[in-house]
Amino acid sequence: MNYRVQVRPSGREFTVEEGESVLDAALRQGIAFPYGCRNGACGSCRGKVLDGDFAYPDGLPPALTQKEADQGLAVFCQARAVSDLTIEVDAMSTVQGIRVRTLPARVARKERLAHDVIGLYLKLPEGQRLQFLAGQYIDILLKDGRRRAFSLANPPFSDEYLELHVRQVPGGEFSHYAFHDMHEKALLRIRGPLGSFFLRESSQRPLLFIAGGTGFAPVKGIIEYALARRIQRPIYLFWGVRARRDLYMHELATQWATEHAHVHYLPVLSEPESEDQWSGRTGWVHEAVLAQFPDPAPYDVYASGPPVMVHAVRDSLLARGFDPSRMFSDAFEYAYVDGHNN
Ligand code: FES
Repeated sequence: MNYRVQVRPSGREFTVEEGESVLDAALRQGIAFPYGCRNGACGSCRGKVLDGDFAYPDGLPPALTQKEADQGLAVFCQARAVSDLTIEVDAMSTVQGIRVRTLPARVARKERLAHDVIGLYLKLPEGQRLQFLAGQYIDILLKDGRRRAFSLANPPFSDEYLELHVRQVPGGEFSHYAFHDMHEKALLRIRGPLGSFFLRESSQRPLLFIAGGTGFAPVKGIIEYALARRIQRPIYLFWGVRARRDLYMHELATQWATEHAHVHYLPVLSEPESEDQWSGRTGWVHEAVLAQFPDPAPYDVYASGPPVMVHAVRDSLLARGFDPSRMFSDAFEYAYVDGHNN
């Protein structure tokens, strides 16, 4: 059984399934809701229930006194609806209000994704979750004071692990360490979430994602978020890499397109190998985009990847009279020279 939840003062609505916490349902449907520990202890997700009934299957959460509960206050990471609800919470829809935090994080898993890309799955300390918008990035803080920026590849509703895609950069100290010396359980310090590369949901324009290499990471987070949220805007994903072996999540992107009629996946190889037997698009990704969409004006463009690619995308769009305020990119805010791995 599903219940409807109305949020005041934002006026947003979402549904919650039987047994699902109000917070989990809100995050699953893209309502940016304040939270911290997700286990009833910190009180970040507190709000008021103005109308309707709910229960705490595990008893009154530690973040709430009985007196507060009697006054209608609720802890939404623990509350289960048993009727439709009207609640009052300071729901957020932009980065404003999301706290940037510095936290320790353990490498829970390290996985080879391609010949020169690994996936790092980071776990925060018990009871801690990082609140972020899909597509944002974190800094890894190094002992010598330097930082390395990595996009979050997981969507916020799937935040047990923070997923990073790390490319091996020739001469890159951190990537060398990550590839060769970093052990599972290694302890890192991170700071985030950062950046304004996230989906503008007030727009209804079709979405054009242009990713280069591991610039796929934040795009993955945003597309998984958009699919979970059942956003029906057409999605075109161009992924530019050198050869077939660099499309390190080709099956996943293919699956999005197979399972969702509004998602279109268009990989582009700049230097296909003969063994690739590639019959798809070749050349530079920005040229492939313009060949497909000679008039890009109706689209919102999200570009992520090496600065040279992102600038080529931007220059070629602007040359066609594209409105720059409809293009979003992480490349304009990272300190790339300081080692972003896209
Ligand atoms: S998120 Fe900490 S109490 Fe709900």
